[in-house]
Formats: sequence, structure tokens, C-alpha cells
Amino acid sequence: MNFKILYRLVLLICLSLQTQSTAIPARDYTNKEYFMVELANQSTLNEFIDKYPDFQYEHQARALDKYHVFSIDKQSENLTNLGNYNSEDHGLIKREDNELLDSLIDSGVKSIHMLPVKRIVKRAPVPISFGDADGYSFPEPADDGKPVDSSQIKVEDVKKEFGIDDPTFGEQWHIVNSNFPGHEVNVIPVWEKNITGHGVVTALVDDGLDYESPDLADNFCKEGSWDYNDNNPLPKPRLNDDYHGTRCAGEIAAAKGNGYCGVGVAYNSKVSGIRILSGEITPEDEAAAMVYALDVNDIYSCSWGPPDNGRSMDAPAKIVKEALLKGVLDGRDSKGAVYVFASGNGATRGDSFMYRCDGYHLFLWFW
Ligand SMILES: *[C@@H]1O[C@H](CO)[C@@H](O)[C@H](O)[C@H]1NC(C)=O
Ligand SMILES: *[C@@H]1O[C@H](CO)[C@@H](O)[C@H](O)[C@H]1NC(C)=O
Ligand SMILES: *[C@@H]1O[C@H](CO)[C@@H](O)[C@H](O)[C@H]1NC(C)=O
Repeated sequence: MNFKILYRLVLLICLSLQTQSTAIPARDYTNKEYFMVELANQSTLNEFIDKYPDFQYEHQARALDKYHVFSIDKQSENLTNLGNYNSEDHGLIKREDNELLDSLIDSGVKSIHMLPVKRIVKRAPVPISFGDADGYSFPEPADDGKPVDSSQIKVEDVKKEFGIDDPTFGEQWHIVNSNFPGHEVNVIPVWEKNITGHGVVTALVDDGLDYESPDLADNFCKEGSWDYNDNNPLPKPRLNDDYHGTRCAGEIAAAKGNGYCGVGVAYNSKVSGIRILSGEITPEDEAAAMVYALDVNDIYSCSWGPPDNGRSMDAPAKIVKEALLKGVLDGRDSKGAVYVFASGNGATRGDSFMYRCDGYHLFLWFW
């Protein structure tokens, strides 16, 4: 009994102190299933916790306050009767064969969302063939960095104009493309207007961000960062293949004029790392990630999604959709955060450029 009171007290303190970044209890996907409960009346949460001894209270959902995360032992008899109840807001209806559902409805439950664990797939680089693919040839840059032929002169001009001494700049064909003029992102005229990313923060929702890299350290935004895979404030890449988010961050905000590597298209902007791709997560984590530090991050860059094999189909879970709506309404001082999803990487495997087989694009496109 005393224990229960103590637990309540701790719970109360935790809920009242809760900020979005609070770490959550460690998850145990081997032995437990997780789900979220929405109550018609939030004040009845404690009664609800008491009434269902096999539902373990975990924490309030981080993206959307109205939901609470519970776990249930995989062995529990009640698990078979749990499911996505009213997850699309069509109303809850009692069913003769499901006493648990009856009881949940009587307890003022508005909806239940199961939280299956999943792993999200990174967008792989599009394979390119070198040599004389399609009749084109790609001149190799000389060792001394001097232009190989006159077509590369422009790189030198740009380097002078903007004070770029970053050694791999000449290879960044997406910024200056002398071989195939027109096949670049056309950012030079923007730089010439002194628009270089000042005051903008892009969050890389990815597999971490090497915030200690000499090219990213000064542009790293700690307040906008969180590691959902390891439940940690800093998005350190920890796995062998955790380089994807760092690469994407470099393309955006690698520092200019530090004699190191290349430059980002918005080299005066800041980047945050939100790590979700380096392990299993639930839709609750995914939703929280999509609106993490919404008052700090302006753009959420998502280079991942359902597998790009032209066959897989997936869409954001309800709570993820709700988080995206919150982001586009409340982000950037109510101007709306910007969500960018990669697309087209699966073209060589028959996936289409826009939204076929990718419910994330469909959702953002048609909403
Ligand atoms: C919500 O529940 C609390 C506690 O049971 C109760 O006092 C309150 O009247 C309820 N509010 C509404 C709007 O039903
Ligand atoms: C299963 O749910 C019912 C409510 O339908 C509850 O009375 C019972 O205690 C639960 N079982 C366990 C083992 O907690
Ligand atoms: C370029 O923009 C930055 C940030 O707004 C400003 O501090 C700087 O003075 C500008 N430079 C020029 C040459 O206008």
C-alpha cells in the first residue's frame, strides 16, 4: 500500500515536471508489448492504472499529451483482447466476445493504439555508374586540385568569390557542376544574396550526427537534438553503419573556409540530430521525434521510409500523423515546421519518384 502511494507521488512529480526531453523508462521488447491509451477524461488516469493490474504504466506520450503509454507482459491473458480500438476515431463499440473491451469502454477509454516495434529503413544513395555511362565521361580531378579542363574553371571562381578553401569542394557537383551545367541545385545565386542559412536549424531525423566533426561542431544545435535509440540527449553515432545522418548534415551545414572536407549548401545554418534509425522503435518514439524541440528546429529532414523496393507499402501510424499535423501547425512560431522526405532513391528498383508505395509522401501530399 505504502509502495503504491510512493509510486503515485513519484508519478505525479514526474508528470508535473515533465518536459519533452525527459528520458523514459527502458523498454523491454522481448517480454512486453506496448500500447497507448487515450482517456476521455485525463483526471481518471490513476483510477485506470488501479483497475488494470496487468497494465504497467510507463509514461505520458512525448509528442501528444493526451496519450499514455502502458506495457503488458506478453504472457498476459488480456493481451489477446487488446488491439487498435478506435484508432481512427470512428467510435468504440462493445463486442460480445470481448469483456476486456467492454470494461475499457466503461472505464472511459477513448482509444487504444498498439505500439508495434519496427525498424525504419534509411534511404540508400542512388547507384551511379562512372566511366562513359550514356556516352558521358567524368574527368578525374587532378591531385593538385587545379582544374582538369576549362569546364572546371568556374569552381575556382566560386572558391575565390566565397573564400572556400575546403579541399573536396571541386567534387561537390551538386553545388557547381561544370561538366553538366544545369545539373546542380543552383545555390550560388542564393549565396550571392547573402542567404547562407543564418538563423535556420535543420533537424536530421536519422541515425545520429557526428557533432564532434570539425566540419559540424560549430554548426551543431544541441537543444534541438535527442537520441531516441539510446534514450540520451546527444545523438552520437554508435553503430558501425551510423554515418547516414552525419552525411546528410554535412550536405546541409558543413562549415565553409575551414580547410576541411567540403561545404554545405547552407553553411551558416545549424543542424540538430534526432536519432531513431539505429534500432527498434515504436510509433510513439517516431511521433516524438517528428516534433522534438519544435520551438528550436525549423526543418525536419527525413531520409528514410518504407523500403524502396517498389513493393513495400507503409504509412505513418495515427500518432505519427497527429505529430506531423502538430508540427506543421505549431512549428516555427506557428508558421509551421517544414518536413522533407527523401524520394526517388528506389527508381532503379522500379519504385516511383513521387508517392507510389510510400504512405508518408501520400499523407503529406494530400493532407
Ligand atoms: C473527470 O474526472 C474527475 C475525477 O474522476 C471528475 O472529478 C471530473 O468531474 C471529470 N470531468 C469531467 C469533465 O467529466
Ligand atoms: C484482465 O482484465 C480484466 C478486466 O477485463 C481484469 O479484471 C483482470 O484483472 C486482468 N487480468 C490480470 C491478470 O490482471
Ligand atoms: C550577411 O548576413 C548576415 C546574417 O544576416 C549578416 O550578419 C551580414 O552582415 C551580411 N553580410 C552582408 C555583406 O550583408
